[in-house]
Amino acid sequence: MSIAQITETIAKLRCIACGATPNSAAQDFRCTTCGDLLEFFFPGWDSASPAFDPAALKALWLNRRTSGDGLDQSGVWRFRELLPHIPAEHAITLREGNTPLYHLPRCAHVTGVENLLAKHQGMNPTASFKDTGMTFAASSAHQQEFRWVACASTGNTSASMAAYAARGNMHSLVLIPDGKISWGKLSQSLDYGALTCQLRTDFDGCVRILNELVRQKPVYLLNSVNPYRIEGQKTAAIELMEQLGWEPPDHIIVPGGNLGNSSAIGKALLEMLELKLISRLPKLSIIQAQGANPFYRSVREFGGKKLEPMTADTQATAIRIGNPASWKKALRVLQATGGEVEQVTEVEIAAAKAEIGADGIGCEPASAVTLAGLKKLRRSGFVTPGESVVLILTGHLLKDPDFTIKFHRGDLFAGTPAEAEAAQTKSLQRAPVVLDANLGTVIAALETAERDSK
Ligand code: F0G
Repeated sequence: MSIAQITETIAKLRCIACGATPNSAAQDFRCTTCGDLLEFFFPGWDSASPAFDPAALKALWLNRRTSGDGLDQSGVWRFRELLPHIPAEHAITLREGNTPLYHLPRCAHVTGVENLLAKHQGMNPTASFKDTGMTFAASSAHQQEFRWVACASTGNTSASMAAYAARGNMHSLVLIPDGKISWGKLSQSLDYGALTCQLRTDFDGCVRILNELVRQKPVYLLNSVNPYRIEGQKTAAIELMEQLGWEPPDHIIVPGGNLGNSSAIGKALLEMLELKLISRLPKLSIIQAQGANPFYRSVREFGGKKLEPMTADTQATAIRIGNPASWKKALRVLQATGGEVEQVTEVEIAAAKAEIGADGIGCEPASAVTLAGLKKLRRSGFVTPGESVVLILTGHLLKDPDFTIKFHRGDLFAGTPAEAEAAQTKSLQRAPVVLDANLGTVIAALETAERDSK
């Protein structure tokens, strides 16, 4: 039997809490026995079987990089042997994945970690990591012949869902918190043709309404409680290991919002270890904004025994989430990999974002919590200078230009309690200069900048 034939038959759903193994999922993707989340598992995987020979799998995936086939060109579908089976005729792909891995020399200097890399998931078709999960979950909606797909979002899931729904000829319904998402993200879902509802609530309020809606209407839920999303997002970690020659780094650091992404990356790491594609686990650490830190508090205050929902507030609007759906999955991978959880302030996020920008890379605020968190993990000694670290940058710089412009103009914290702390970030600010239109003023500006750079 070939690898493909085996994987076609063995992906099964399982509840993460009670272990029930339903044949199909309910509309809200909750276990009908206990109400917790479902995940895919692969009971037929056998690392001793020739069908799962690690060298053969690696060669197969590498070979597909030279293929002209649409599925092979996708950085998600290229790894389909490790995913549940969806027939090719239902696959909706924008050639997602295939994102670059960059060295960050300036950030390396700032943190004292020489071997510091960033995997830039913002280099996906809709400019965030969501595309890797969306290609797979939207395809599953297509396979099940849904006319409507829907999500609650802080902006990136909705942008991604709207694009993939349009490509798959499906209608999409977006529920977003009114006034709490960036214009860049909102503009995407409008242009991709979604029915976009700005609800007068926060992200967690949007989730509540959507969960009720899918129980009443034949609408396919595309939030990350949908286990197909997690499967697609897993591939970022597989691709990362391939880029590193299957030699895991010591640490991977991810932002934590609804906690689907950390769960997905951790799941991939554990599965790659099981299949002997890698020989050891990196430590997966999760960083939250201090104003949206329910998972941090769950781990630090309650030893992961419970999670207390909160009203979240942060200018990193992508992770302004107070009741993360996937916290139990994230806890499991945090513990299994020996990772750490950290929280960072608004000023620390803004400074880290400018530092990543100064390396010529850039990212949106939520992604910058990774670098801010790394600084804290260095100070605590959890990360040592000789270790290798990969930051997962989840969204593109242009997702939230307002934040960036306000930061560089020095307006981001004006009139807020963080104003005094923000004074430390002055040296990172590059405000635009408004000049009279003549050569002399421009030369003077150039000479001043040259002097300041010495
Ligand atoms: N970074 C960015 C840029 C995000 O958009 C998100 C989540 C996260 C990090 C956190 O990832 O939720 O898997 O822990 N954005 C979701 C959305 C909630 O609706 O776009 P997570």
